[in-house]
Amino acid sequence: MSTITFDTMLIILGGVLLLGILWIYLLTKQRQKFKQLIDFAIEGLIISHKGCVVEINAQALKLFGGTDKEEILGKSMFKFIAPESKELVQQQSEKSHTEMYECMLLRKNGTSFPALVRGSDMISFGKKMRVSAVIDLSELKEAQYALQALNDNLEMQVQTQIEKNRQQEMMLFQQSRHAQMGEMISMIAHQWRQPLNVLSLLAQNIVFKYKLHKLDDTVLDEFKEDSMRQILQMSKTIDDFRDFFKPDKAIKIFDVKQQLFHAVEMVKPIVASHGIELTFNAEDNLKIESFPNEFGQSIINILNNAKDVLLESCGDHTKQIIVEAKRGENLDIVVSIEDNGGGIDEIVMPYIFEPYFSTKGAQHGTGLGLYMTKIIVEEHMHGRISVENTPEGARFQIVLRGLE
Ligand SMILES: Nc1ncnc2c1ncn2[C@@H]1O[C@H](COP(=O)(O)OP(=O)(O)OP(=O)(O)O)[C@@H](O)[C@H]1O
Ligand SMILES: [Mg+2]
Repeated sequence: MSTITFDTMLIILGGVLLLGILWIYLLTKQRQKFKQLIDFAIEGLIISHKGCVVEINAQALKLFGGTDKEEILGKSMFKFIAPESKELVQQQSEKSHTEMYECMLLRKNGTSFPALVRGSDMISFGKKMRVSAVIDLSELKEAQYALQALNDNLEMQVQTQIEKNRQQEMMLFQQSRHAQMGEMISMIAHQWRQPLNVLSLLAQNIVFKYKLHKLDDTVLDEFKEDSMRQILQMSKTIDDFRDFFKPDKAIKIFDVKQQLFHAVEMVKPIVASHGIELTFNAEDNLKIESFPNEFGQSIINILNNAKDVLLESCGDHTKQIIVEAKRGENLDIVVSIEDNGGGIDEIVMPYIFEPYFSTKGAQHGTGLGLYMTKIIVEEHMHGRISVENTPEGARFQIVLRGLE
């Protein structure tokens, strides 16, 4: 067995020393590379051991408002967590690996910021280290709040605008109702003219008989019966008009033919007194589920327009209004109202359904008739209204969805 000489010992020691130096060199190189690598990351990275920061990348340093890593290295991680998030972070740090979670962190100057954090344990040289990745959410949150505020504001503006439109529509409805009331009164007045004449004749007659000493029980009974008949007729007229113009409270099933007939009957006396012929043809069983009175009023608006234009029109031709209703394709019900009053001027045609558009002058027209008719047909009854000129006049067409 040979003994190790002093020289051999020196050589071995030198070799070990050299290896040690090489090991340290490699380790330092490795560490530098590691630092470069973590500084390269977009998110903030913090490496801690037993809750103390041992390494931090440039991004994280920036997030916490530091300028030199030494200010942070060796400090407790909890120094950088806002009080309201301490419990949450404590709970998360007990897990070896966490999903991403939101919490509030503290900058060096004491201000807090929202962050997205994920943590994971790793073993390095036998030591348990914790790697935490941090993303600053402040800009995102600010944008989110701004967007939310913008949305809220936009929603408020939309609501305000909707409410304004609703109010305006209600106002227009109110104005158009007033105009319709005026129409209704003139139609009632017209229908009362006849019975009032009869009543006046009956009154004159009874005075006459009295003066001739011919007033006996029979004459008085006849007078009472005749006058009551006229008065009941007048009262019925009021009831009919009131029922017809009463606002609809709910939708109901009704017959289009019947409702058209009512509308035609209401305007007939007044148009007839102006020598206008009013013809009405409709198929049976045109049932729909909608607002009967609103429908009737929209028809009266169109009939009144036809009457107005015919009153203005000259020539010795027979003035005519023709109202028709029939089944169209599928379940459609097609109502048409045609006159021979000369038609609508092509220049004004695009505007006739606009509110307040009238060619009759402020004293004769509010310009709301066709506007309301369109709202009723298209928005309340979900139908369509259109108009076209014919060789003699204008034809309005309403298409509604009927029941089977
Ligand atoms: N049958 C028609 N023939 C020719 N022009 C028409 C006819 N119907 C409507 N118009 C034109 O359309 C315009 C608008 O009609 P709309 O019913 O909305 O208002 P108006 O009749 O003028 O007023 P209001 O109905 O309030 O009395 C009328 O002023 C008229 O110029
Ligand atoms: Mg009108």
